[in-house]
Amino acid sequence: MEASSEQSDRDQETKNLRVVEFFSGVGGLHCAVKACGVPCTVVAAVEINTVANAVYQHNFPEVDLMQRNLEGFTVDDFASFDADMFVMSPPCQPFTRVGLKGDKNDARTNAFFNIMRNLAEMAKKPTYLLVENVKGFDTSETRNFLVETLQKCNYVFQEFLLSPMNIGIPNQRVRYFMLAKQRPLQFKEEHGTQLVQHRVNMPLMPNEIKETSRLVCDNSMVSSQEQTNMELTESRERTGQDESSMVSLNEQSIERKTDEQHLNEKERTDNVKSGSCEDMVSSSEQNEQETGEDDERRKIGDYLQADLSEESMAEYLIPDRILLKYVNVMDIVTVEDTKTCCFTKAYAYYVEGTGSVLRTDLSADMSSAFSSGSCSDDERLERLKALRLRYFSPREVANLHHFPQDFGFPDCSTKKQKYRLLGNSLNVTLLAQLISYMVA
Ligand SMILES: C[S@@+](CC[C@H](N)C(=O)[O-])C[C@H]1O[C@@H](n2cnc3c(N)ncnc32)[C@H](O)[C@@H]1O
Repeated sequence: MEASSEQSDRDQETKNLRVVEFFSGVGGLHCAVKACGVPCTVVAAVEINTVANAVYQHNFPEVDLMQRNLEGFTVDDFASFDADMFVMSPPCQPFTRVGLKGDKNDARTNAFFNIMRNLAEMAKKPTYLLVENVKGFDTSETRNFLVETLQKCNYVFQEFLLSPMNIGIPNQRVRYFMLAKQRPLQFKEEHGTQLVQHRVNMPLMPNEIKETSRLVCDNSMVSSQEQTNMELTESRERTGQDESSMVSLNEQSIERKTDEQHLNEKERTDNVKSGSCEDMVSSSEQNEQETGEDDERRKIGDYLQADLSEESMAEYLIPDRILLKYVNVMDIVTVEDTKTCCFTKAYAYYVEGTGSVLRTDLSADMSSAFSSGSCSDDERLERLKALRLRYFSPREVANLHHFPQDFGFPDCSTKKQKYRLLGNSLNVTLLAQLISYMVA
């Protein structure tokens, strides 16, 4: 290592790093910064969504939280933070929309492009930069722009596709991560051995090559049916449908025409502010990246709320109507299992592909509940009810995301808001490990 690099490393070691969190949501990255074991403090956060901000403020009142649109930030705004580290989870819808994938042409990328353009203009740039997004970002034009900006700005960087499952946490949530640090600093791979195996090394791809290679390497592609489902979910949310309308997305497609009418241009623009993440996850994504031995992974039982009373438990039981109609598309897990599916923001409000459900009675006969033999609906319902299937509570989803126990929601937050916000968030321990590796 060169002498100047060693000097830079020493300077960083002695410093309490000033971190700024963009697109802060409920502060998953804030929790990760706190948990990473490196002396750093989140000094400011920027987020446009008022509901998310109420939760952020409830948990982190000491932070200068700005309710602003990042599209309007100038180079002076960014410089005024005097930050050592920028961390961010930009909106992911432009990259989950396979087929319609708007990528850089989707207005929801404007704020991220604004950050990148201003980064290039900043006289004193943050030493570290972390970007989190969905799988799909890795093959986007927006990622190319990020890479070009980092190269131009003299950063060394590494990219990853990682799920909490890869570090022994029983939750599937494959995400893209970019870690970058200013030269002459370098990554020290010996500090991130578990993470480094999940590095991805992608060239900058011109458009025409990218389209072909995506066919070969991007297994996050979803079918046109799944695409339709995602659009329908967004449309339903905007038209205000709630729990009572909860159905399987596949069976909604007959209503597509009506829903499409709601997908007008204004709503697309409004959605920039909604910051919603993907609503359902394709089964290929739910099943991939399961490296790591099962016996190294913790069990779901470790993440349940011990203080959930019988009464609250009843609140999370799956309603009879849903049970009877949609049980076949549910991912049913037990306390002994070591994997849950990715919890999305539509969890508990849509059935398919939005997260696992918990079977709480292990003595009941699972096979008879699912046998295809002829029995009346009432009989089948009784057998299914005996399994006592329930949703994970918001606190349990937060546990699976490794949010600290003192993380909470203001009293005014509804259950639906909690699921939505957590579905947009991230795994704290995974991010803490990545930050720690980046700064090492
Ligand atoms: C993927 S979520 C980030 C979640 C966050 N990491 C957490 O732990 O909750 C993206 C966030 O970006 C916010 N957002 C979207 N566009 C924005 C903009 N132009 N300016 C500021 N915030 C924006 C959304 O409201 C949403 O909360």
